[in-house]
Amino acid sequence: HKGEYLHFMEKEIFEQPQAVQDTLLYACDKENNEFSYEAFSMSEKDFRDITRIRIIACGSAYHAGYVLKSVCESLARVPVQVELASEFRYNHPILEDGEIVIGISQSGETADTLAAIKEAKKLGAKTLSIVNVNGSAIAGESDFVFYTQAGPEIAVATTKAYSCQLVAGYIFSLLLAKTKGKIGDEEAHILKEELFSLPGKIQQCLSLDSETLTMAKKLKDDKNIFFLGRGLDWAVSMEGALKLKEISYIHCESYSSGELKHGTISLIEKDSPVIALLSQEELAAKSISNIHEVKSRGAKCFAFTMEDISVEEDDFAQILSVPKTQPLFAGSLLVVPLQFLSYQVSLLKGLDPDKPRNLAKSVTVE
Ligand code: BG6
Repeated sequence: HKGEYLHFMEKEIFEQPQAVQDTLLYACDKENNEFSYEAFSMSEKDFRDITRIRIIACGSAYHAGYVLKSVCESLARVPVQVELASEFRYNHPILEDGEIVIGISQSGETADTLAAIKEAKKLGAKTLSIVNVNGSAIAGESDFVFYTQAGPEIAVATTKAYSCQLVAGYIFSLLLAKTKGKIGDEEAHILKEELFSLPGKIQQCLSLDSETLTMAKKLKDDKNIFFLGRGLDWAVSMEGALKLKEISYIHCESYSSGELKHGTISLIEKDSPVIALLSQEELAAKSISNIHEVKSRGAKCFAFTMEDISVEEDDFAQILSVPKTQPLFAGSLLVVPLQFLSYQVSLLKGLDPDKPRNLAKSVTVE
């Protein structure tokens, strides 16, 4: 039921603080309130045995995989490879001893992801699925399961399930980092506290809807929109671009800031819209120099930043900033105004954001 909301997508965007909070609590041991291996239906030994990680997923879940990669490699120093589920089986996959295969899926029914999990099992790998639907096929096929607590998601374009997938990835990375001795108790505690502050900060991001509406009005008639980011910002920009193209039918392309000059820059002309994600302080200056490259070719630029990151007003047509958090978790905040932007562009164009043409919520054919 949509209740006071116009669309399920809007409702689900607003449910994110609760969904994230529920996922954090689900991951905690009820007795000592610490993140538990059991939430992943795994043991400490299962975590200790992990030497490599292969993520397989489709669509937004695939993008969540890139965030997991960035966070996990940074915290736990375990190598992570992200692969499209539909490609995995046909790429002659090589899985090493100790490599765990993680399938990420909201529905738990996506045929490509299910087939990839089965293939991974056949190859002898341990499999973990991060799914939102209890008792789904992918959960059933996997050795281990973590259930994101987004609740039912109706809108075709995912919002709250993606947000919960990010959180599942953070918790997994934190547990792995602790198990591998890469972070101490104190650091783990600080990160956990920061994770528990996310629902409140996501709540604050929900008031960015009027700023994104201003941006949506400036972008709704464009035919091509470029998204830029480095590192984690790149991972999140993939989701921002997908969300917008899924429901607004505007062609959007996400590009790594540094790679731009090796290709896409040839498409930049006067007034080409470029949306830069700038939440990673140590990378922001580099990305801004890429912004100067497109600006000098006439691009109109927009920025999504985190508080305290300094950007020149003159460089951008509009700057939108999210509350400060530990940079590894910035995606959870940035994604909210990106979702709003997509939703509002879709409405301004008179489209139905809940039911984009040609797309299905869950695709059970390969
Ligand atoms: C697609 C949906 O076809 O499947 C996407 O339209 C979704 O929104 C993708 O991200 C993967 O779905 P799931 O259920 O495996 O996360």
